[in-house]
Amino acid sequence: MRIGVFGAGYVGLVTAVCLAEVGHLLQVVEVDGDKVVKLNQGISTIYEPGLDELLERNVSRGSIWFTDDARTVVDHSEVIFLCVGTPPKPDGSADLSQIESAVRKIADSAKEDEYKLVVVKSTVPVGTAERLGRLVREEAGGRPITIEIASNPEFLRAGSAVRDFMNPDRIVVGADSEKARSMLRSVYESFDCPKMFTTPETSEIIKYAANSFLAMKISFINMIADLCEEVGADVTLVAEGMGYDKRIGSDFLRAGIGFGGSCFPKDIRAFLHVAKSRGIDFGLLEEVMRINNRRTARIVERLRTHLDGLDKKRIAVLGLSFKPGTDDVRESQAAKLIRLLLREGAIVKATDPLGIANFKREYPDLVEEVEFHEQAETAIAGSHAAIVVTDWKEYKTLDWTRIWNEMSRPVIFDTRNLLNPDDMLDLHYEYLAIGKEFMHLTAKTLT
Ligand code: UDX
Repeated sequence: MRIGVFGAGYVGLVTAVCLAEVGHLLQVVEVDGDKVVKLNQGISTIYEPGLDELLERNVSRGSIWFTDDARTVVDHSEVIFLCVGTPPKPDGSADLSQIESAVRKIADSAKEDEYKLVVVKSTVPVGTAERLGRLVREEAGGRPITIEIASNPEFLRAGSAVRDFMNPDRIVVGADSEKARSMLRSVYESFDCPKMFTTPETSEIIKYAANSFLAMKISFINMIADLCEEVGADVTLVAEGMGYDKRIGSDFLRAGIGFGGSCFPKDIRAFLHVAKSRGIDFGLLEEVMRINNRRTARIVERLRTHLDGLDKKRIAVLGLSFKPGTDDVRESQAAKLIRLLLREGAIVKATDPLGIANFKREYPDLVEEVEFHEQAETAIAGSHAAIVVTDWKEYKTLDWTRIWNEMSRPVIFDTRNLLNPDDMLDLHYEYLAIGKEFMHLTAKTLT
């Protein structure tokens, strides 16, 4: 099929490249001219495993093409996916101006008596498809154009977006007409997974509900972790014991420093905003956010107590990206943690395998305050404590025996429960973890 995509950001680029890979003909509108040039050379503008190869192959066989000209893409396409940003406004609601501007452009470019299906992939509040339908009618001003709006949320995770797109758990389509449903059936013909067809409103809710539920699992297990620390239980085993129950499942029960990224925090705030605007008291989700917001402070508090103050202490922060496998640092818990450490007078030495450049761009006020190190070993050398903030597998395989000798004090705070506690104790580290009692662990170190 001839498919258009608006926006070559994270979701847009992955969607377009993967749809080209399964045999469709893609044209992508991107306003950033530099990006367009690079992408047409087959060079990816984001880091995502597997994407480079698929992009290069599809550019060279002519199945995908990038441009800044919306009209050409509208002319080309039977179906147009909207994958532009919906950033949060100061009140937490989603800013739909980019989506609206794309829909206006489509309406202006659409020829009379031609049917175009516009599919919203960006995460948008419930009611957006309907609102965009009204916008099309306004923009058409009586011209006989037929543009239908459908919803088709993405469930891609950073770091495995290509794999997630190619092997989805499900595909959700919210569309009012049989024509739209049948076109989307054709778009996704080669994907073997449950396909759900609903109204746009239900589909829009599914996306927010899924993300909120996953975030709720994380906050839940993080509270269990706090309790485990107090009573001498082990949260990893508690999560395992819970996870065997098929009704609960073991995913998203890894206790840690809390969730970050461009989706969970933003989507929950937007969902809360939607609920409030409809008179629904969704206090449960407010609590999910409140628990998450407290994570970094609790970690700093525990470290302060352990080190007897943080003033002038050199602290290595291992990991800046919001999770491993990505250079994305948006809403990363690392930034919040670093700010708290600096407030306590600590000297922060930070490292990350991929995220340093983005971190400096995203948090310019921290550039002068933090010492950045390409290598974890140099960040840790001379420090009074190292905090594992992102569960990069690289940190598991560091030469921890050698590192012990190079630290001013061999304290490790593993906020992701990444390392093996027994190994760390055998190496005589003072090892703090999440949801595990510290005294029990140090007992060995002290003998
Ligand atoms: C999420 C959703 O998973 C995806 O379906 C949606 O489309 C976009 O939002 P993503 O933000 O890429 O994807 O990351 P995800 O893997 O879900 O992790 C989100 C955050 O939760 C990370 O900071 C991660 O470290 C944290 N997390 C995840 C935990 O703390 N514990 C867990 O058990 C799982």
